[in-house]
Amino acid sequence: PLKLAVLVSGNGSNLQAIIDAIEAGSINARITCVVSNNPDAFALKRAIKHGVTTVIHQNQNFSNRREYDSALVQILKDHEVELVILAGFMRLLSEIMVNAFPHAIVNIHPALLPAFPGLHAQKQALDYGVRYSGCTVHLVDCGTDTGPIILQAVVPIEHNDTEETLSARIQREEHRCFPEAIRLFADGKIQVNGRHVHISP
Ligand code: GAR
Repeated sequence: PLKLAVLVSGNGSNLQAIIDAIEAGSINARITCVVSNNPDAFALKRAIKHGVTTVIHQNQNFSNRREYDSALVQILKDHEVELVILAGFMRLLSEIMVNAFPHAIVNIHPALLPAFPGLHAQKQALDYGVRYSGCTVHLVDCGTDTGPIILQAVVPIEHNDTEETLSARIQREEHRCFPEAIRLFADGKIQVNGRHVHISP
């Protein structure tokens, strides 16, 4: 099984979807650790409930992003991690992390990239007035939400949507797409060629 780390900061509903898919036998992978920068993240409770090792790795103990990331790389290497999953991990990664796991860090973003990168993507979409948004699973490079795209799913925007209703509609697609993308990695079906991700049938 492919050895995963899932990095979280909050609720962990995407972590839950990944755990459920692994337990159902649809992904040939094992979560070696869940790492949170937030000690109060509900995601940690989900991990513990399923017997997954948790690590709290707080920003405040480090003077800058590179030092934080160097220690993070060590944690992940200690757990022999092969694929790093950012599941609502609300911190940017430096080149220290990106270079330590080439083409092996995946993120989920709640918009159709390259539209609406960064924070509050759902609010950005509503403010702009687009008719459709969605989610994007992509590889992480040194930019903010700029890496090669693996999978996307589209959701319509309704005239009375709020950030909450749109986020919930997007999350339903996230919980389907993210496990699917990880399954493709675990089955060795992902090849990266520059910006382009080839998915074998
Ligand atoms: C997800 O909707 C994810 O797309 C978003 O945070 C949420 C985490 O939910 N990520 C970002 O906004 C990254 N910039 P979860 O903790 O329930 O999985």
